[in-house]
Amino acid sequence: MTQKQLRAPIAEAMKNYANDGALAFHTPGHKQGLGAHPLLKRLITKEGLREEVSLMEELDDLHEPEGCIRDAQTLAAELYGADHAYFVINGTTGANHAMLMGTVKPGDTVLLPRNAHRSLTGALILADARPVFLQPEISERFGIAMGVTLETVKKAVKQHPEARALILVYPTYYGVTFDLKAIADFVHAHNMLLLVDEAHGPHLRFSEELPLQAIDAGADAAAQSTHKIIGSMTQTSMLLTKGPRIDAERMRQAVSLLQSTSPNQLLLASLDIARLQMAEDGERLVGRAVRLAEELRGKINAIPGLYCFGRRDMTTPGASGLDVTKLTVNVQGLGMSGREAEHILRYEEYIECELSDAYNVLFIISYADTEREAEKLLTALRHLAVHRRNGSAFHVTRALPPVPRQVLTPREAFFDDVERVPFDASDGRIAAEQVMFYPPGIPLLVPGDRIDTVTLAYIREQQQLGLKVTGPEDPQLRTIKVIRENTKGVRHE
Ligand SMILES: Cc1ncc(COP(=O)(O)O)c(C=O)c1O
Repeated sequence: MTQKQLRAPIAEAMKNYANDGALAFHTPGHKQGLGAHPLLKRLITKEGLREEVSLMEELDDLHEPEGCIRDAQTLAAELYGADHAYFVINGTTGANHAMLMGTVKPGDTVLLPRNAHRSLTGALILADARPVFLQPEISERFGIAMGVTLETVKKAVKQHPEARALILVYPTYYGVTFDLKAIADFVHAHNMLLLVDEAHGPHLRFSEELPLQAIDAGADAAAQSTHKIIGSMTQTSMLLTKGPRIDAERMRQAVSLLQSTSPNQLLLASLDIARLQMAEDGERLVGRAVRLAEELRGKINAIPGLYCFGRRDMTTPGASGLDVTKLTVNVQGLGMSGREAEHILRYEEYIECELSDAYNVLFIISYADTEREAEKLLTALRHLAVHRRNGSAFHVTRALPPVPRQVLTPREAFFDDVERVPFDASDGRIAAEQVMFYPPGIPLLVPGDRIDTVTLAYIREQQQLGLKVTGPEDPQLRTIKVIRENTKGVRHE
């Protein structure tokens, strides 16, 4: 056996990271076990390994649940006020895939925000749906995408009365919410479904201080990343459905189609335990997260150079509410980028954030946090504010060009042949990869789009401003991948 075979690179990296001691202000919600329910702590031990069997009669079948899995799903549905809760061991990625596969047919039109998570692109490819992209609002001040307005939805429905469903992301990654109820009423009046990617909302139901969860606002289905914000293990999510527009049997089949026939029982149990923890003590725990986050917000805003937006800032189009447990700290006033701030916090203060962008650093305060973690974050941010840079408070967000014409569906583009051409000579070709800048994280090109002069010019301009492009294989964008012309490139006009 060679020496290198005696290594376990993943386990080693995990141990090293945990030993590094950075305090977690990111997912998973249990925060490295800090908030783990005693039953979860017991599961991840030798005893847990003894229990890690599946497919035994007593342990039920995720695909045809009739025993403990059915009971656990029923309890979850009851707690969340849903008709059905489907357990998913492939994250909200899997739940989003199933949500679409369980509701639309090949060729159906669906409306969705241009900056939807890539799992929804995957869902469009799998379900062979035809997307119509809606442009979300942008906050120029904070450099982030907000929600979609009712007006935008109305316009799209008028242009596409054939649409079968509207998919929305609610709350946004930064916790921003909008009037989902009005949108639900509108799309239902037009005989459409409202499907919600609620990856960041499994805790909303447990505090009246937080925005309404999607199915309570009228959504027909919502996919929640239980693992991101509350106490299950990474990779576990729930798909909630409510109301007569959802065919429960079809949804069960879709969820089943996309999951392993040997689901890990520890993951399923962790979903069940997360539900139990919220049933036992959710209001207190989530209530504490809300209080800690609000207190922190006030104190952060007293630090010169930092600004953390709050509920009262949610008055711009596409924003009417906020999950206040998301702390988006704008560092422009320090003359540095969010990425620089993230680096300082990580390596000098041992604080790990959820993400950073050009203007902001995002921290998640979860049910697992206490005064101790809140105090450490505050101290770290006070130290950060000493590191002033000479950079000016740059401002790069500006109105996006119109969404290019889509000539291939995501599925057609996915299965087509591609080639690489010089970026500056790609006008008129069909994009085969995504091009995006942060801020504001809204794609300028997605596979299937006809590349046009206005979009090309805008992309070059953003690069000249020094923004880093994300998406394409060539990060300098000297070249871009496009659909090979002699196949579908010319046929789809
Ligand atoms: C908005 C949104 N939807 C879906 C997902 C996918 O969720 P999961 O990681 O549970 O598969 C994410 C992940 O970050 C997300 O931010």
